[in-house]
Amino acid sequence: MKILVIIGSGRKKGNTSTIASMLLKRICELAISEDKQLQVEKLFLVDYELMHCIGCRACMDRGEDKCPLNDDLTKIKTKIDEADAVIFGSPVYIDNVSSMMKALIDRLAYICHRQEFYKKMALVYSTSGGSANKHTNRTIAGALLSWGFNLIRTAGFIIKHHDSDLEIESKYSKNLDRLAKKVYSSVNDKQYLTPSILSLAMFRLQQRERANPAKAHPLDYKYWKEKGWQKSEANYYINHRSSKVRIFLSIILYKTISMIFVD
Ligand SMILES: Cc1cc2nc3c(=O)[nH]c(=O)nc-3n(C[C@H](O)[C@H](O)[C@H](O)COP(=O)(O)O)c2cc1C
Repeated sequence: MKILVIIGSGRKKGNTSTIASMLLKRICELAISEDKQLQVEKLFLVDYELMHCIGCRACMDRGEDKCPLNDDLTKIKTKIDEADAVIFGSPVYIDNVSSMMKALIDRLAYICHRQEFYKKMALVYSTSGGSANKHTNRTIAGALLSWGFNLIRTAGFIIKHHDSDLEIESKYSKNLDRLAKKVYSSVNDKQYLTPSILSLAMFRLQQRERANPAKAHPLDYKYWKEKGWQKSEANYYINHRSSKVRIFLSIILYKTISMIFVD
């Protein structure tokens, strides 16, 4: 099992990193208590060269290998590919994610069209001085869901600049215990095989676009066709163990979202 934390703060000993360490420590303890092999890694975006998306659409229209920006994106993407669960942590900067985190989200935007991460679990958290954690988490979570990730949870941590590690630990200890258990069990139990109602509905929303040659971009249409996801009987990216009730509820959610936001 591999768990990767992607940290969108330039402060390697800052609050976002501290929370990552506290979470990973607990997750490792759970793995040790069950005698399970577990690899964990903290990836600081600040250690990687990651240019801003220039909006040329090469990745979307001609393929991700046609991106003209030559930097470390592939290195980061490879780390994500190798992980069973990815934890995304960002500080709140003016009510939203840090620019480093946003750069990563934008550079991987093509995956909204050609999903890849449907066998992975994800946790999203943000740290702030007191506001906008929800909005920040939504920015990341929205991207992850459209990339196919299975979202475990989102979490916000409010940390004052004078808070010591001990104070953070005592304030959030129970929360961190709960989150660590969720992350660990989601990987250990292969919970990607039981996608949420929202994930199942997201698949249908994508399918509606990508299975329609009049609407889908040719590259996306081909990708979805090759994967077999355009077939009317396909109800998710992979064979899964969701109950019929869950599938039924996902259809209701899909129809509701379609009616309100798409039609
Ligand atoms: C440029 C900048 C903008 C910030 N904007 C907000 C904000 O809008 N709301 C808030 O509650 N905290 C804000 N903060 C505080 C940080 O979100 C908070 O201190 C965070 O935990 C820092 O994480 P780090 O130590 O990992 O870098 C901001 C901090 C900086 C440097």
